[in-house]
Amino acid sequence: MKKKPLIVGNWKMNKTVDETVDFIKKLAGEITNCNAEVYLAVPFTSITEAKKASEKTKIIIGAQNMNDASKGAFTGEISAVMLLDAGAEFVILGHSERRMFFGETDDFINKKLIRAVQDDIAPILCIGESLEQRENGKMKEVLKNQLTQALKKVSKEDIKDIKIAYEPIWAIGTGKTATAKQAEEVHKFIRTILQDLFGKKNAADIYILYGGSVKENNIKSLLKEKNIDGVLVGKASLEVDSFENMIKNF
Ligand code: PGA
Repeated sequence: MKKKPLIVGNWKMNKTVDETVDFIKKLAGEITNCNAEVYLAVPFTSITEAKKASEKTKIIIGAQNMNDASKGAFTGEISAVMLLDAGAEFVILGHSERRMFFGETDDFINKKLIRAVQDDIAPILCIGESLEQRENGKMKEVLKNQLTQALKKVSKEDIKDIKIAYEPIWAIGTGKTATAKQAEEVHKFIRTILQDLFGKKNAADIYILYGGSVKENNIKSLLKEKNIDGVLVGKASLEVDSFENMIKNF
């Protein structure tokens, strides 16, 4: 059976606290009857006010990154406990921009994931291949490696709190989306790997989101596919009207 779609906005390094609160107030009033789960991954500085503004609404607030340590001498970093304390309920881990610009490895992402599960903040694990890897026929190998390494030491119990986002790097912020069929094929492949790792029932229950230039004009066809349980939206989540239309009209 199709799961209730999950629509996650990833704001990246955008919006001040005031802009965040304004956005949430406008959005919340418009989506009271929507049939989707709505998450917003806001900048660290906006979490506390975003949480307050989203109380008694459908919007769940989360963060875009965290460190694997619980505290200590890690200048500029933030822990799961701090995110929870500020009001975040989920965290995006392993986004391709973190891998690309900040050198995050699968091993580091695995450590963060384990910490997130231990400390009770729900992770959304991002994986995805580059254009070069896809064109060289390496896509499946790359995705399988990213998944198995990031999910090392994750138990069948823990996997229930983890969501996966498939984000082909060539589709992020480029305006090039994978077609719904292309994305579905990959999602099906991801589910078979999850099945090998965690069993059929658990694999069927795991949310697998698609991300990469999701917009008003393609969200519907993506969410119709059997193995696409939701979407991770970057650019199109920054404008309240476009994000609202996506949530209302998928
Ligand atoms: P995009 O970003 O929707 O702007 O392509 C998606 C993401 O990076 O999560």
